[in-house]
Amino acid sequence: MLSPNIAYPLEKHTKDVVFLKNLISNPNILVGDYTYYDGRESGEKFEKENVVFARTCKLFIGKFCQLAYGTKFLVSDANHQMSGFSTFPFFIFGKMAEGCPEWADYAIDLPSKGDTFVGNDVWFGHESMVMPAVKIGDGAIIAARSVVVKDVPPYTIVGGNPAKIIRQRFPDTTIEQLIKIAWWDWDYEKITRNIPAIVGADIQALLEAK
Ligand SMILES: CC(C)(COP(=O)(O)OP(=O)(O)OC[C@H]1O[C@@H](n2cnc3c(N)ncnc32)[C@H](O)[C@@H]1OP(=O)(O)O)[C@@H](O)C(=O)NCCC(=O)NCCS
Repeated sequence: MLSPNIAYPLEKHTKDVVFLKNLISNPNILVGDYTYYDGRESGEKFEKENVVFARTCKLFIGKFCQLAYGTKFLVSDANHQMSGFSTFPFFIFGKMAEGCPEWADYAIDLPSKGDTFVGNDVWFGHESMVMPAVKIGDGAIIAARSVVVKDVPPYTIVGGNPAKIIRQRFPDTTIEQLIKIAWWDWDYEKITRNIPAIVGADIQALLEAK
């Protein structure tokens, strides 16, 4: 069995691809089994360099997602105050605020849009970027260099900046069945026994998988 609990699953080019959840220490970033990042030996830096930031808001990524090199997530609390004249974050430079008597009572207005959710089996193209609080459905594909600003329905391909729908991958009824089947939640043996049906496009074969 290939355990999802190892960081480096490849036998060759061992550090190119990582099972991401094993290299995340921030409790606000939750990643499912077998989701990998093709970091070209930079997988260890993912949570610092590719997630900006997840301090109060959370980033959820499901199972079996495929993150190409440079995939980035801007999480809500990376925002600057926009309601006033300046967006300069004086509050992070404590010394600058010392000369301001009102500072202690000043309420910083940092807008927060909420958590970011990625479903299962989502493929992120090279250097794609996801903006705060977006929800990406199971089986979606994010085209290379896209900037995802709006929710992406399941099994839908989006691309561009801002990312727009390129096409739906399968008919509505098939998508409903795929979400119900949720092969990513099967046990490991059932998944590996049925790889041809999972990567194929015969919904009956997937429905009949044992
Ligand atoms: C999204 C993707 C899978 C679509 O592949 P495809 O179905 O063969 O797409 P096509 O080349 O037929 O293009 C279909 C449409 O999408 C558009 N499109 C394709 N890639 C795009 C991108 N990165 N950004 C914006 N639009 C894109 C095309 O312009 C075309 O638009 P049109 O219908 O208006 O002419 C592919 O373009 C892509 O980005 N793959 C990611 C590759 C990658 O990053 N790999 C990293 C290693 S895994």
